[in-house]
Amino acid sequence: MTGRAVWISLPLLAGCSGVQSVLDPAGRDAQVLAELFWVMLAGAVVLWLLVNGLILYVTRIAPQPLSRRGAEALIIGGGIIFPAVVLAGLLVYGLSEMPKQRAEGAGLTLRVTGHQFWWRVEYWPDGADAPILAANEVRLPTGQRSEIKLNAERVIHSFWIPALGGKTDMIPGRETRMSLEPEKPGTYRGQCTEFCGESHAYMAFGAVVMSPEAFDAWLEREAADAVAPETQKARRGQQIFLSEGCGGCHQIRGTPADAQVGPDLTHLAGRTTLAAGILPMSHSALRDWIADPEAFKPGVEMPGYGHLSDDDIGALATYLMSLK
Ligand code: CUA
Repeated sequence: MTGRAVWISLPLLAGCSGVQSVLDPAGRDAQVLAELFWVMLAGAVVLWLLVNGLILYVTRIAPQPLSRRGAEALIIGGGIIFPAVVLAGLLVYGLSEMPKQRAEGAGLTLRVTGHQFWWRVEYWPDGADAPILAANEVRLPTGQRSEIKLNAERVIHSFWIPALGGKTDMIPGRETRMSLEPEKPGTYRGQCTEFCGESHAYMAFGAVVMSPEAFDAWLEREAADAVAPETQKARRGQQIFLSEGCGGCHQIRGTPADAQVGPDLTHLAGRTTLAAGILPMSHSALRDWIADPEAFKPGVEMPGYGHLSDDDIGALATYLMSLK
């Protein structure tokens, strides 16, 4: 390849792998979609070559006009029969792939609700009568098809983990559903794919696929109450959390903070990302976020706490980072 071709193809090739790529499937449903893409692409390449070959043929190689009968045969054959057969074939192939996408899950059920601009995530293991509450991260075990029920609070969102499967809209007042069967453990990325307001692009989430044993152990930890703060700084952070009214929106199970207006923070520090997929889970990112969330996510409902001293915000972040 020449230098220029390499530069032009770099961004294209970069889209083929990574945590949020349709072409790097880590689940059965994404595998089906990736195959569909390659089949369609191969067909499109063949048709492109055919059409351009014909253009070349009639302009350069045999430019003399066809007889009337030859022209009619070309129009009927190439303009009606050929596309009808090709499109019917693609339709049958596409429809045959659809039931796999709609298959019902068994065992684990997740209920995910889209908010502006974050995700409430409930885990309902088989037979559970109350959910295990989390937010902004979806964890799934390999080797089983999990059922995912989708809702939205105020406006339409869309739930999509490209590495695991197709997307499904989340509609206020109506439950939609999908199911996913992940196959490859790893950390992937989901993204809201329906415009839902000014921070639509900043509404993402971590998607973690685990072995069934690791998942069960994780879910058991997730179901437990928050750990009590161990250091003096973390204890001070907890006092600030409670006295500043953070518990008016957030829940930290095992403390007086029990509101469910914003994301549940019981095991916040155990998640891969902060603020619905847009910041790393670190003490410094948490400080910046608490001081001025609007700077990272325009239109966010959480107020900034920039009026607190650096020391107080630091203590708050220390407490929250202890919530593994
Ligand atoms: Cu939520 Cu776009």
